[in-house]
Amino acid sequence: DWTMESFVEQAVREIKEKVGDKKVLCALSGGVDSSVAAALVHKAVGDQLTCVFVDHGLLRKDEARQVIQTFRDQFHINLVAVDASARFLNKLKGVTDPEQKRKIIGNEFIRVFEEEARKLGEIDFLVQGTLYPDVVESGTDTAAVIKSHHNVGGLPEDMKFDLVEPLRWLFKDEVRQVGEQLGLPERIVWRQPFPGPGLAIRILGEITEEKLNILREADAILHEEIIKAGLYREIWQFFAVLPSMRSVGVMGDERTYSYTCVIRAVTSHDGMTADWARIPYDVLESVSSRIVNEVKDINRVVYDITSKPPATIEWE
Ligand code: XMP
Repeated sequence: DWTMESFVEQAVREIKEKVGDKKVLCALSGGVDSSVAAALVHKAVGDQLTCVFVDHGLLRKDEARQVIQTFRDQFHINLVAVDASARFLNKLKGVTDPEQKRKIIGNEFIRVFEEEARKLGEIDFLVQGTLYPDVVESGTDTAAVIKSHHNVGGLPEDMKFDLVEPLRWLFKDEVRQVGEQLGLPERIVWRQPFPGPGLAIRILGEITEEKLNILREADAILHEEIIKAGLYREIWQFFAVLPSMRSVGVMGDERTYSYTCVIRAVTSHDGMTADWARIPYDVLESVSSRIVNEVKDINRVVYDITSKPPATIEWE
């Protein structure tokens, strides 16, 4: 596509001009926008860019590994990957209120990012994967953008950066095209929206490492089956939820008392309204039997058939 090629060329030129020989920082989340922005800036200024990836321990199965592999091993980008899972889990101990979880995770995220940024010394620019719709929504200042993405107050006063926002004139579908042009893998370019607080808002009630592992396994099976059925791009978001509720079941001649897993899958255009996805019964059947057979602590799978409104897409 010549349009995307010329977009990339022009963006690279502009980034070079703006950044000069200064250093650039990017918070990589694994999402489409920050990934494409990072790859674009890297194409322009190479090693002057450092990416910081904060793994809060609330990502899906293999996600952290894939981000590291793509950016460090494939793109050879300077990447600081911080495994902060223990820290987040500790802060979240005993917390059950959804908004409280969001606040804790958002604040801790900024704190870890700030600590890592300070270790890197003098940095002049911050890459933001701001898209055109974000610009319209929240204006242009760093604090506002960070706030809208992480539900928090932002970086401290003494950490003011000039912003590099190479995607600020693009819509989502165009960002995906740029990502493909730059050679980013399909699982990043076509990644579904994933909330900043991650699996923390898909485990109802208290978050524990055990529940995170159970949910990751169930979610990975759902993911595999949806891909196998060729439904990935038709569904806006699909995921497993762990309501922290147990029920009685029977396996062989053993009575079980284990977790229930909820499957949530919706079609939508913008996430504001959504309809539950009509996943074929045979796909649901494979999902259900695989989850119950392969995930030890789950003995029951239910399908959420509520639209938005009145329900939300997420359970918290
Ligand atoms: P709801 O659950 O409100 O979700 O219908 C609408 C869209 O927003 C995502 N979502 C979040 N994204 N931080 C985020 O970055 C959050 O706290 C958050 N809560 C919901 C959700 O995944 C869906 O795409």
